Amino acid sequence: MTGQSDSQQTQTGLAIYRRLLAYGMPYWKMFAISVVAMILYAMLGPAFAKLIQPLIDGTFIDKDPAVMRNAPWILLGLSLVRGVTGFAGDYCSGYVSRRIIANLRRDLFDQLLYLPCKYYDRSSSGQLLSRLLYNTEQVSNALTTGLVSAFKDALTIIGLTALMIYENLILSTVFMLVGPLLVFSIRFVSKRFRNISARIQESMGNVSHVAQEVIDAHRIVKVFNGSDYETEKFARENESNARRYLRLISTDSLSSAVIQFIYISGFAAILYVVSLESVRQTITPGSLIAFVAAMAMMLSPIKRLISIMSTIQKGIAAGDSIFEMLDTEREHDTGTLELDRIEGHIEYRAISLSYNEDQQPALSDVNLTIEAGKTVALVGQSGSGKTSLARLLPRLYEPTAGEIRIDGHAIRDLTLANLRGHIAYVGQEVTLFNDTVANNIAYGRRGAVSPEEIREAARAAHAMEFIEALPQGFETMVGQQGLILSGGQRQRIAIARALLKNAPILILDEATSALDAESERHVQAALDILMANRTTLVIAHRLSTIQNADEICVLRDGRVVEQGTHAELLAAHGAYADLHALQFGHATGGSLRRSAPAAVQASPNPAV
Ligand SMILES: Nc1ncnc2c1ncn2[C@@H]1O[C@H](COP(=O)(O)OP(=O)(O)OP(=O)(O)O)[C@@H](O)[C@H]1O
Ligand SMILES: [Mg+2]
Repeated sequence: MTGQSDSQQTQTGLAIYRRLLAYGMPYWKMFAISVVAMILYAMLGPAFAKLIQPLIDGTFIDKDPAVMRNAPWILLGLSLVRGVTGFAGDYCSGYVSRRIIANLRRDLFDQLLYLPCKYYDRSSSGQLLSRLLYNTEQVSNALTTGLVSAFKDALTIIGLTALMIYENLILSTVFMLVGPLLVFSIRFVSKRFRNISARIQESMGNVSHVAQEVIDAHRIVKVFNGSDYETEKFARENESNARRYLRLISTDSLSSAVIQFIYISGFAAILYVVSLESVRQTITPGSLIAFVAAMAMMLSPIKRLISIMSTIQKGIAAGDSIFEMLDTEREHDTGTLELDRIEGHIEYRAISLSYNEDQQPALSDVNLTIEAGKTVALVGQSGSGKTSLARLLPRLYEPTAGEIRIDGHAIRDLTLANLRGHIAYVGQEVTLFNDTVANNIAYGRRGAVSPEEIREAARAAHAMEFIEALPQGFETMVGQQGLILSGGQRQRIAIARALLKNAPILILDEATSALDAESERHVQAALDILMANRTTLVIAHRLSTIQNADEICVLRDGRVVEQGTHAELLAAHGAYADLHALQFGHATGGSLRRSAPAAVQASPNPAV
């Protein structure tokens, strides 16, 4: 059982290594050059030393004119060749190594762009980043340095073994008996190396995760006096990282000692066998010395090979988690339909959504139709599924059941790019890039956009007055996540971005929630003009902003409980009327009021 899983792991290890090698394959010529150059360089070292002697003897002792004349040139030539081979070896292996890293990073980054939101929900960005930055380096080490040394040392060992067999077959056979022991321990050690390496890589991810959180949330950490807590959290990860590294080092060095012991046992066995009379007759003293010398010379390459094993196993462990990410299924983009222009008729048909199997469904059997050019507002308590419903339209998540249609076409049949091209979105959490104000606004319209259009969008979003007050106006860098701007300012940039995209479908998820009443009124006026000729899905807690919607849809626990115009719903004295009463502080006889807890009844809370 253990043996089987052991061989399975080696199998997958081999499979992973083979896959990693594919990343090196395009550069095999460079790699070959670097190996040859390194071997030449290594050989030239002793040659240099050896050549000096006849040169010196020839020039100073024998006073041979030919040698005297040539000596400087030979010296210069040799040193030039050594320089060139040294450079070629370093440069070519460095080239291969950096190309592998760059290509792995390119593929990982590409994958990041197309991983489904679900994958991000359950991953930590620290882990993902550390794969992109740290694991790729480890892979490249295993493929270049590791491979070159493994190659060199394996060759040496094969050569020495051949020599030993040539010198004496009986002794070689005796020596070979330790072979299986060696192979067994090397396999054991490699397995351990890989396990520890995987854990080291994971802990690198944790270290960067904790650090990243502190960087992103530095204000919360300060205000909530979280520094002690974070220090402790970081110390834990840091400590575990250091301990795991130490375990690797101790495995490395212990294994080296054990291997040496096994090896010396082989040596002892040979000595014992040689002491036997019958064997001694088969071997001359010269042969014995050559044999023993070959054996002794084999020890260092074997020990080095074990160490390289750690580099290679690190690479395999790193490759494993890289491939896990690369093999994760991307967003389904199997549709082929590309619509040039859409009317914007949207239909949710019996939509259900569960984020996780063990969680209450976020949406259950939702049916909703939005006529082209109309505005539908979603209202409901926090957590009732409004954002979830909106997210399904650009297919950020896939419904568990049901289907969404735009102009009669299932959105699954459209290409993702085409579908998303028709949708402008202002999310509940504003996301700005660490770039200029202008580029943030123009984000959805790569390239073809004039400064005048950007200004126009900013003006409509009521962002002009604060942008002009910024030190460099539209060219001001907004900082990470737009940190140098106020919440309302950020929101207005996000609105400007959506306005500029000028798409037939507009989704506004709490788009004006951070604005003061005055700004909101202005922005609302701009949005009203914009919404007039496109299909809009608007989500708002502040009911005053959605009163004019063509239809209002009330969600509760993922179900549509009411639908109608503002006037109709008020007259119905249902859930909407209750929400309205709570916000505007007048009593109705609606169902929510009847079922709401006393505390809620007593305090009309505008934040509901
Ligand atoms: N990415 C996610 N993974 C798992 N569960 C989620 C995810 N996003 C939302 N949920 C869950 O789905 C339910 C609906 O959330 P949703 O964000 O749609 O509510 P909402 O109506 O927009 O609330 P709010 O008014 O607070 O924004 C909640 O119970 C929430 O916990
Ligand atoms: Mg929401």
